[in-house]
Amino acid sequence: MGIKLENISKIYQTPHKKVEILKNLSLEIHDKDMFVIFGPSGIGKTTLLNLIGGIDKPTSGKVLIDGIDLSILKSDELAKLRKEKIGFIFQMFNLLSNLKAKDNIILPILLDKDMGKKIAWINEFASEIGIKERLDHLPQELSSGEQQRVAIMRAIINSPSIILADEPTADLDDANAKKIIDILKGLNQKYGSTVVIATNDEKTASNFPIIYQMKKPVSC
Ligand SMILES: Nc1ncnc2c1ncn2[C@@H]1O[C@H](COP(=O)(O)OP(=O)(O)OP(=O)(O)O)[C@@H](O)[C@H]1O
Ligand SMILES: [Mg+2]
Repeated sequence: MGIKLENISKIYQTPHKKVEILKNLSLEIHDKDMFVIFGPSGIGKTTLLNLIGGIDKPTSGKVLIDGIDLSILKSDELAKLRKEKIGFIFQMFNLLSNLKAKDNIILPILLDKDMGKKIAWINEFASEIGIKERLDHLPQELSSGEQQRVAIMRAIINSPSIILADEPTADLDDANAKKIIDILKGLNQKYGSTVVIATNDEKTASNFPIIYQMKKPVSC
């Protein structure tokens, strides 16, 4: 699925002033691209991913997913698109601390009819990425790299066409970072997912073919 941003601006209103994070930003991410949003902390990478994922709305401009303008969708239509088409791997994992790894992964499909098939997939994929033995543990009993892999599985359980990964290698050692990078590449190659990665780490960025360097908006 392709992603198009047309003339996006994002202004946060804080108690004392308005802060313009994105200004007249346009970019296109093609179907099946592996695309890195690169830039220093605070530049607006998470903001941009949240706009693409329909978690937040731009102050002006359009976000189009597969040609559909997100701003014209009703909230239930947007929620459906997010659930079925977009997998979000959050910067802080956002795993629920009182649920075991496996139950965190299942969360997005709890009420789905084909849950049985997906549970078989969980065991298979968890073994492929080396966390099968960790599925019955709570998040705090897992290493950062293991938690990140659980978060990835939760994000992809619905076979999303678009995977948004926010700092997927932050705080991981080289070996674990490589595992995550290989998983994301595998999802792109095997399932044709469009993968968008936000990172401030040059080494991580250099693993992917398309790098979009974010810059501070120029004030008028
Ligand atoms: N809800 C908000 N209200 C006000 N300011 C915000 C809000 N969310 C983010 N910001 C500010 O917007 C800027 C961009 O934040 P964002 O989280 O998108 O940056 P980032 O590039 O993802 O940074 P990092 O690499 O540290 O994750 C920061 O200066 C942040 O403080
Ligand atoms: Mg961020």
